[in-house]
Amino acid sequence: MSKTIIISNRLPVRIEKDENDELSYKTSEGGLATGLGSIFKTGDNIWIGWPGMAFSSEESKANVKENLLERNMAPVFLTEDEVNNYYLGFSNQTLWPAYHYFVQNIIFNEKQWQSYVDANKKFAAVVAEYIEPGDTIWVHDYQLLLLPQMLRDINPDLTIGFFQHIPFPSYEVFRMIPWRQELLKGMLGADYIAFHTYDDMRHFLSSVHRVVGLAYDRNEILLDDRIVVVDSVPMGIDYDKYAKSAESSDAIAREARYRRDLRGRLVLSMDRLDYSKGISTRLKAFERFLIENPNYKGEFSLLLIVVPSRDKVPSYQSLKEEIDELVGRINGEFGRMNWTPIHYFYRSFPLPALSAFYRMCEIAMITPLRDGMNLVCKEFIASKRDQKGVLILSEMAGSSKELSDAILVNPNDQKQLVESLKKALEMPQEEQVAHMELMQSSLQKYNIFKWVDLFLGNLEEVKTMQAEMATHNLDKKSHSQIINDFSKAQKRLILLDYDGTLVPFHDDPESCAPSDELMETLKQLKSNPNNEVVIISGRKADHLEKWMGSLHSHLVAEHGAWIKEPYSKWTRNPELNSDDWKEEVKEIINFYVDRTPGSFLEEKANALVWHYRKVEKGLGALRSSELYSHLKYMRRRGVDVMEGNHIVEVKPTAINKGKIALEYKKRFNPDFSMAIGDDRTDEYMFEMLPESSYTIKVGPGNSFARFSIKDDVAVRVILKELAEADS
Ligand code: UDP
Ligand code: G6P
Repeated sequence: MSKTIIISNRLPVRIEKDENDELSYKTSEGGLATGLGSIFKTGDNIWIGWPGMAFSSEESKANVKENLLERNMAPVFLTEDEVNNYYLGFSNQTLWPAYHYFVQNIIFNEKQWQSYVDANKKFAAVVAEYIEPGDTIWVHDYQLLLLPQMLRDINPDLTIGFFQHIPFPSYEVFRMIPWRQELLKGMLGADYIAFHTYDDMRHFLSSVHRVVGLAYDRNEILLDDRIVVVDSVPMGIDYDKYAKSAESSDAIAREARYRRDLRGRLVLSMDRLDYSKGISTRLKAFERFLIENPNYKGEFSLLLIVVPSRDKVPSYQSLKEEIDELVGRINGEFGRMNWTPIHYFYRSFPLPALSAFYRMCEIAMITPLRDGMNLVCKEFIASKRDQKGVLILSEMAGSSKELSDAILVNPNDQKQLVESLKKALEMPQEEQVAHMELMQSSLQKYNIFKWVDLFLGNLEEVKTMQAEMATHNLDKKSHSQIINDFSKAQKRLILLDYDGTLVPFHDDPESCAPSDELMETLKQLKSNPNNEVVIISGRKADHLEKWMGSLHSHLVAEHGAWIKEPYSKWTRNPELNSDDWKEEVKEIINFYVDRTPGSFLEEKANALVWHYRKVEKGLGALRSSELYSHLKYMRRRGVDVMEGNHIVEVKPTAINKGKIALEYKKRFNPDFSMAIGDDRTDEYMFEMLPESSYTIKVGPGNSFARFSIKDDVAVRVILKELAEADS
């Protein structure tokens, strides 16, 4: 039985030592642990990660390992050096600030990077102990970006999913990291990569394209050995757990107890100690609110919960000092004998206490400067059983994409923060209920269990798609089968691409004339009235006419824009769109022609092509990826942008080789059909022809074709054999 292996930097367990040095194990209540609980606790499934503590003796490590295994977990023990350099270092002083746009906090340190590589290797080695063929692996978050590829190297057939819980920054920030290529290549070891938001996914794809030079089509990246799908799947919470907990007797009793000391209306601020959370900006806005609205003094207080985190990192230490100072200043300045403006706790609380806070506070002010998702705001909403309460939420939090009924704010806009607090304090109850209802129903539906199902379901679909695209080398058996089936058939249809299939590529597209031998073969094939030979190419009509005209066969130019039947004239495909897209695209391509020596624009009747075969190596690829990205938005205007061999081609969406191939198939109703091609445009044929057709891709790479063969030489060999089989 195959199993699921979950891997995250931190295990979902809290190990604590009591006064007798005895260890206790408490499964964490965090969102991820709850969501994945039903998975990792079943059968042989396992969760692998760092237990969060250092164990010096081998004996204690063995003991911890045994105890964890009973809970379906396995430890990766980190040394003090690894904690300092991999965890507190590269993970939290390079990646964390870079990915949250805190460029001023980023440290680039080679030693820390090396430690990150080594720690990822260490995780891989532990995972390797548990891997069996057919297993599904789910890697979590930014501490383990290199792990997917390391695992793929161990076993290329693994099913690997990766979810990043923090934002993916814009290319302009990401490119600053000296090890940007390695990081992306590490992630691309996965089959399915998901983020919380579409923006994260978009940023990731753009970096993959610009840093690693890989093209993508919608959200699919085509690697040599497989396709990788990138997606956005926002994480939910265990809605019912928070709803129930808010109504539990424990939470109600705690609220009553806390209420004895905390009077007045309350606004909640709850985060881990982190500069990305915008805690000091929020405190400053609170201070400004009191200055500008003196009548509210004594009316309400801020319940400020800051959960200790990464406190050995200098930027976290200085943030702590800044918060302490701000709280002291505000309380000192505005406090009265019978009123404390801010109730401040620097500690973490168990769930019933959190539920009591969510109940007591009528407003939650969640204003991170940047946050991958933010679960606190979702928990607050789920806990409001009477549907009264207001959420002020930063538009920089991933959750804002789902919670559009909150008061959304730009956390850097002090004036707006002050106004939103006033608006929240004064919002009529019916309005509160109306917003709350909408947010609750969405959170209830897209809960954490749905998220897990979606992620794993999508991962499985990617594997199915990969299997469909896996081509098999045309071995001897299939080769003879083709010849056999061809010989037996009464009516045969043979669809052949031109460049890269019948003839090799040439630096000068004008010099790709077919050899006499090839022409002889094609003529021989064509001479049997049972054979329909179609040359189906991206080339212009006059090229095909020049080289293939004497064949008097079916010729299709510009992917189907122009068609010529034997012994008749070229005709324009009536399905063509108008040309109104052309001027705009021409202008864009010409901009790249001007900047890229050696490149040129080819204007076809129904397509525009930018050629860069003669451009300096590297520069051509770079410019082509820029041009490709630049042109992509044109899709909405009904044109397709395709990258071929040293070309970028733009043409109306309505036409492709697949459609044309199907038309011929319908027309001749053959009992043997074969299509051979080498590039992406031929994939349309492979995908659209029925499974019984012999579809053959020329060259390496994934394809919808059933078979692949080495090169154009092999194509000519097989065509010759077919021609001879007929004679
Ligand atoms: N949390 C907790 N104890 C506390 C305060 C918060 O367990 O005293 C939990 C909170 O319920 C939430 C998580 O910590 O599930 C914080 O997640 P979030 O996504 O908001 O922020 P992160 O810390 O992941 O950046
Ligand atoms: C964020 C990250 C997690 C991390 C958590 C707590 O939610 O996405 O990967 O585990 O913060 O941070 P810590 O450094 O204590 O593990």
